[in-house]
Amino acid sequence: MFSTKSLHSFHLSSDVKHLAEINSITDLANMQELTNNGEFIVIGEGSNTIFIDDYMGTLILNKLVGIELTENSDFYNVSVGSGNNWNEFVLWCLSNNINGLENLALIPGTVGACPIQNIGAYGVEVKKFIASVEYVDLKTGKASVLDNQSCNFSYRDSVFKHELKDNVFITKVNFSFAKHWQPQLAYAPLNSLENPTAREIYNKVCEVRTLKLPDPKIVGNAGSFFKNPIVSNEKATKLIAEYTDIPNYEYSQNSKKIAAGWLIEHAGLKGFRLGNVAVHDMQALVLTNKTGNANGSELIELASHVMMKVYDKFGITLEPEVRFVGKHGEVKFSEIDQNVYG
Ligand code: EPU
Repeated sequence: MFSTKSLHSFHLSSDVKHLAEINSITDLANMQELTNNGEFIVIGEGSNTIFIDDYMGTLILNKLVGIELTENSDFYNVSVGSGNNWNEFVLWCLSNNINGLENLALIPGTVGACPIQNIGAYGVEVKKFIASVEYVDLKTGKASVLDNQSCNFSYRDSVFKHELKDNVFITKVNFSFAKHWQPQLAYAPLNSLENPTAREIYNKVCEVRTLKLPDPKIVGNAGSFFKNPIVSNEKATKLIAEYTDIPNYEYSQNSKKIAAGWLIEHAGLKGFRLGNVAVHDMQALVLTNKTGNANGSELIELASHVMMKVYDKFGITLEPEVRFVGKHGEVKFSEIDQNVYG
């Protein structure tokens, strides 16, 4: 058995039976017998994955690197190996005068993970820059390319969380950046900047994130633990009438997105601690491995407690944004047996 503690950013104490590293497409082809016959899951840097138990299958680590740049008169086209670190890629873009990703500074994880949950921050979602995603089906060995439309991107969601959930290994993400760049400054901490360069936006986002979000190298966490819930306009109107300062954003014609961090804070849980785990005291949407010694069951207990308190106060069911891995693979939160884990 191998410890997963250093392989995922929450640093929970759990083990995995087998480990495999993918450094080339040939390594992937060589994995096929194993992936056809056994249990496996794929991770990048494990920044959105929670190991709630020892995992009895093979944990496949993505180490596919490399960046290729081509350009025409209007666009930079960048093809990126899925194992590259996300923030290093953002910095590579900036140092090559390719702008667009600066609002997504410091998001933990790999490039290959970015399309899966359509990462987003400070008014920008990565779907805006993704031209296509290349992947290999680990059961059949077949390589495919999906264009942007076929990825079905929406808020923290894509086809890779649904139809293509289990057997896909993303090998490359192909980005397209318009040479004519326009800064995205709608989001509060950025709207005070005047005519900023992309680098200045990057620096500002780093400053704000560093203040509010714990560094996973120091305090284990997985960024936002829950999604911001989407509620009907009717429900939002009632909430806003009762809580005039509740942060809400238009999501569609019929629905609004509500800030889950605000709900958790106003359910009285900011800084709340349960044994080795806690609700972060600077940003309540983040749960942390406070002492470094947490295990999966404590974290599930805390997550359930947060969900229950928010439901009791606001009538809203929070949905985890992170993915959970149990003994035999990924499990939905609702399927986790609270008697065992909670
Ligand atoms: N808020 C509170 N109390 C809190 C936390 C937030 O009142 O404890 C309020 C804030 O004052 C603000 C609103 O809630 O009015 C939104 O908070 P924030 O700007 O911090 O953003 P968020 O909605 O909590 C989302 C993403 C983050 C991303 C930020 C910045 C999700 C689930 N999370 O968080 O993404 O960095 O916006 O744009 O959409 C991640 O996915 O891991 C992540 C960190």
